[in-house]
Amino acid sequence: MSIKIPNSPEADPSVLQIWGGAPLKGHVRISGAKNSALVLIVAALLCSEDCRLRNVPALVDVTLMGEILLSLGVKITQTGDVLDINATTIGKSQAPYELVSQLRASFFAIGPLLARLGAACVPLPGGCTIGARPVALHVRGLQLMGADVQIEHGMVNAYIKGNRKRLKGAKIYLDYPSVGATETLMMAATLADGETIIENAAQEPEVVDLANFCNAMGAKIQGAGTNTIVICGVPQLHTADYAIIPDRVEAATFLIAGAITYSELTVSPVIPDHLTAAIAKLRDIGAQVVTDSPDCLRIIPGSSLRGTDIETLPYPGFPTDMQAQFMALLSLSEGNSLVSETVFENRLRHVPELNRMGADIRVKNNHAIIRGVPMLSGAPVVATDLRASAALVLAGLAAQGKTTIQGLHHLDRGYEQLENKLLKVGAKLQRLPQSQANISPVSAINSDALIPS
Ligand code: UD1
Repeated sequence: MSIKIPNSPEADPSVLQIWGGAPLKGHVRISGAKNSALVLIVAALLCSEDCRLRNVPALVDVTLMGEILLSLGVKITQTGDVLDINATTIGKSQAPYELVSQLRASFFAIGPLLARLGAACVPLPGGCTIGARPVALHVRGLQLMGADVQIEHGMVNAYIKGNRKRLKGAKIYLDYPSVGATETLMMAATLADGETIIENAAQEPEVVDLANFCNAMGAKIQGAGTNTIVICGVPQLHTADYAIIPDRVEAATFLIAGAITYSELTVSPVIPDHLTAAIAKLRDIGAQVVTDSPDCLRIIPGSSLRGTDIETLPYPGFPTDMQAQFMALLSLSEGNSLVSETVFENRLRHVPELNRMGADIRVKNNHAIIRGVPMLSGAPVVATDLRASAALVLAGLAAQGKTTIQGLHHLDRGYEQLENKLLKVGAKLQRLPQSQANISPVSAINSDALIPS
């Protein structure tokens, strides 16, 4: 794998120009889930034999996670969307700061490293554009499993206490159903001595995907997808060949693309059950979502869009990762809508950018009050985080005239081939170097668009 540092300022970064108003038509192929891929790559550290992951999306974040494993001495080979990982030997227990600081999910490696090597040293990931994102729940859980954890000079140093070789099973109650904490602790517990029970666990489909992958490697995990996960530790895991689930956030983004442009689109493969909250909201807004086949959804637009309220919550509640994209749609929906972001403290930064395009949205604390407008107009805008960048693309598809989006490194972290997929269904857009787009560079105020999220 070759490294590409996603957040290093490029001399001439690219921008995306979108000419709004083009009707879309056709089918979009949905890639493997980014959030599953990231944690499943980390989970391969648990296995002392070869592992094969299929349906791995080609994303900057995935490349970066691969680089982190390489830096630990793990062997990785990529062939198309297949990743072969061999962590028989892990040369180091310390993950490098310059990589971890760019990708929060890489902190989750602390669980498998500790379980495999008895020691792990991982930099604190730090905050990001959408919020502080602490790791106290991960640390507390590892301590309950018999780890000594010290945080010094920005590094989390963990080792198994006493002369034990394995972590020990424990009963862990999470104060909040954190996805990352559930995943970190579930991975650590697979190789622990005895039974671990995680209560108030996250129930996200990616947590279930991780449990299924670990079970395919011989782990004994039950209850993933409910709020109580029981892991019976085993001494070691064996080889597995596993395909990652489809990306529910990408699927929702394309369903919204259909609704916002009044176009009929199909998306597959998807797992419709993973999209229940999004489908319910699309129906509230006036679109029809029908199941063409068990893994294929069709969006059929209504004659108009109407406002609705959304509150983000842990799964099965409405996902925070779809909030920004739905806000673009609600900005064009008749009447008033209220969007409440309860998961992250700073995840409404797309609002000023949508307002630059003519939306009428006010923010009060963690609430966005949206008055639907009849049209948006294309404008130069800046993406402030991954899902915000998708929201601006959606707004640009519906807006009159040309929208130019800067800050594309965010988009590239989480959407595989977004432009090509949109071009294939009829969108009018192009990526080009900023110097050719006739716009001024991102202003100092927006330069934190270069901070990872
Ligand atoms: C994961 C997803 C991210 C998604 C998020 C919520 C990955 C790689 N990323 O992030 O796309 O938006 O779930 O669905 O899977 N918290 C604490 N203490 C902790 C840990 C978390 O207070 O120790 C808080 C966070 O600050 C946040 C909330 O819990 O307010 C949710 O965070 P969490 O579920 O941990 O998100 P991530 O796993 O980081």
